[in-house]
Amino acid sequence: NIEQSIDSLLLKMTLEEKIGQMNQYNGFWDATGPAPKSGDQAALKYEHLKKGLVGSMLNVKGVKQVKALQKIAVEETRLGIPLIFGFDVIHGYKTIGPIPLAESASWDLEAIKKAAQNAAEETAASGINWTFAPMVDIYRDARWGRVMEGAGEDPYLGSKIGVARVQGFQGKDLSSAKTIAACAKHFAGYGFAEAGREYNTVDVGTSTLYNVIFPPFKAVTEAGVRTFMNSFNLLNDIPATGNEFLQREVLKKEWNFNGFVVSDWGSIAEMTPHGYAKNNKHAAELAVKAGSDMDMESSAYLAELANLVKEGKVDEILIDDAVKRILRVKFELGLFDDPYKYCNLENEKNTIGKKEFHEDALDIAKKSIVLLKNENNLLPLKKENQKIALIGALANDKTSPLGSWRIAGDDGTAVSVLEGLQQYKGNTLKYAKGADVITKDSKVTFVNELKINETDTSGFAEAIQLAKESDIVVMVLGEHGYQTGEGRSRTNIDLPGVQQKLLEAIYNINKKIVLVLTNGRPLAITWADKNIPAIVEAWHLGVQSGNAIAQVLYGDYNPSGKLPMTFPRSVGQIPIYYNYKNTGRPYGENSDVVFWSHYSDESNRPLYPFGYGLSYTTFSYKNLKINALADRKISISVDVSNTGSVQGKEVAQLYIQDKFAAIARPVKELKGFKMVALNPKETKTIEFTFTEKELGFYTNKGQFIVEPGEFNVYVGGNSNATLSNQFILK
Ligand code: IFM
Repeated sequence: NIEQSIDSLLLKMTLEEKIGQMNQYNGFWDATGPAPKSGDQAALKYEHLKKGLVGSMLNVKGVKQVKALQKIAVEETRLGIPLIFGFDVIHGYKTIGPIPLAESASWDLEAIKKAAQNAAEETAASGINWTFAPMVDIYRDARWGRVMEGAGEDPYLGSKIGVARVQGFQGKDLSSAKTIAACAKHFAGYGFAEAGREYNTVDVGTSTLYNVIFPPFKAVTEAGVRTFMNSFNLLNDIPATGNEFLQREVLKKEWNFNGFVVSDWGSIAEMTPHGYAKNNKHAAELAVKAGSDMDMESSAYLAELANLVKEGKVDEILIDDAVKRILRVKFELGLFDDPYKYCNLENEKNTIGKKEFHEDALDIAKKSIVLLKNENNLLPLKKENQKIALIGALANDKTSPLGSWRIAGDDGTAVSVLEGLQQYKGNTLKYAKGADVITKDSKVTFVNELKINETDTSGFAEAIQLAKESDIVVMVLGEHGYQTGEGRSRTNIDLPGVQQKLLEAIYNINKKIVLVLTNGRPLAITWADKNIPAIVEAWHLGVQSGNAIAQVLYGDYNPSGKLPMTFPRSVGQIPIYYNYKNTGRPYGENSDVVFWSHYSDESNRPLYPFGYGLSYTTFSYKNLKINALADRKISISVDVSNTGSVQGKEVAQLYIQDKFAAIARPVKELKGFKMVALNPKETKTIEFTFTEKELGFYTNKGQFIVEPGEFNVYVGGNSNATLSNQFILK
């Protein structure tokens, strides 16, 4: 029995060894080479490792490295407690898949789960047993670089996707050598950084915290996620890392979470610049009291906790609780039975980059693509006798499609759009770059700021000439993969650099343009929407990017993706999201009187709403029926028809509005969705059933209530759904 084993191990541990379990170091030397020499940081960390003062490491990869470090922990420390190895496996380990925001556009929970399952298998094969994923932060600000890493703006969709990812990573048996522990991050509020600026202050009310931010975290806790990561930000003036309410009251008490919480990188020490802790010692005290169990790379626990206990400032019970949580996960992973279970060189060789992983990566990449516009059915492309111009630096890029947060992925391993399209031989395909997105001296790494090409238009002439000679132009524009992710906030979410100019220059020559966007956040492409006949949102799709895009452009795959995040018309509309609350003065569209809630220079409406996405066929919705069942259950049915001429898949979405409540509720809230595949002229009746869980909400005291009253129901293919009906909850 695990609990007994934990207790008896704890009895043998010194205070220092316990604190060691709470200490996590970044990989600090090539563990297969000579040991670090004395005198430097690495040597100190090495000494700590040998003394059992390290419980976990991050950013160590590959069986040889992991095994060498594990051997020290197991064979050289007094108690031989194995290390747990963490790594950011955010959208694949080596076989990089679509960025999480893209994957979420598939609304396909099985495919998302499979992607996480494959990522877990590949990760585990390289020695690692814990991923810092999924990020289940909800966010509404496209300026924030990390929108690429989550499931978008909606708590309902975000909860479902978070659970699918956790189930994929952890599987049914955490001790299997093909599964890894997941980590729900960043608890909490990180997605609400003011002005979308990374690491910035978060100030949200109770309703937003409980009804928007918490639900995905609660859902993954119920699904058994084994670890949590707290966040860098202040939440209502208290750092999340030192936040007792979040970690002890809500997570560990109310939600009964018995796994452990790791801090974010250095976030314990960062409580000092936040103005919350006097110094590292004080920070360590505040963090451990608040329920941060493991210290990622600030060394504050290792340096300070023992003294804090000896001085009576921290009760050893808190240390014991943290250590038990950490040991519990190590036991569950099976590390005590076999600390080298993830360290099989042969398995590593046979598993990394498996063919099946690539097939699944292609499958979900296609499902992630969202068709935003298709005037006069310009798409799909005809397969023969067309002269096609392919323009844009991102069309011939094999690294950018890997996106951000893919640290074990290798540069240059993505299929480019050029390569994808070249597989279709019936047309004449010619390529011109037009303009670079990033300057030639940009360092394309996870830690460096890219330099954007704001001036060089020397390639325009060649691209214009090519467009002139072609029947149709495919332009691949957008953000470089490393313009997104952590530390990549932008104040401007237009097409970066000279790309807008390039688009307009080509448009002046040939209007038959298919714009393929590759980006990690919603972009304000209002001009393009007005002028360009076909627009495809292709995100950063990973290794199979070019194949997926080509198959969609040629109609071998009929797009079915739906936006998980609202696309604004302009950056000034941010934060913009579909589940907003009405103001007291919401109306006035055609009025010349100004006293209503609006902008004088831009519409209130988004460019593309949440849930939006087209297909090469069309769908209609009819017969929305509502049945009140016993026990306050509601059943809703609707007929969905394929009214076009090709087979297609539609994500039917159900929204409700609680018309009057103890606290004002959003104008619409997603409460169900179903994927339905339909042949031309086919109709299917689909049903949604929901319960009090979907009809209630949290009050400003954090209490969940379900009030009787009137509800509106909307069903359709996006959040602007207008087919409606009502019911009264007794
Ligand atoms: O997992 C990440 C986190 O999301 C941001 N800071 C660093 C961590 C470890 O790499």
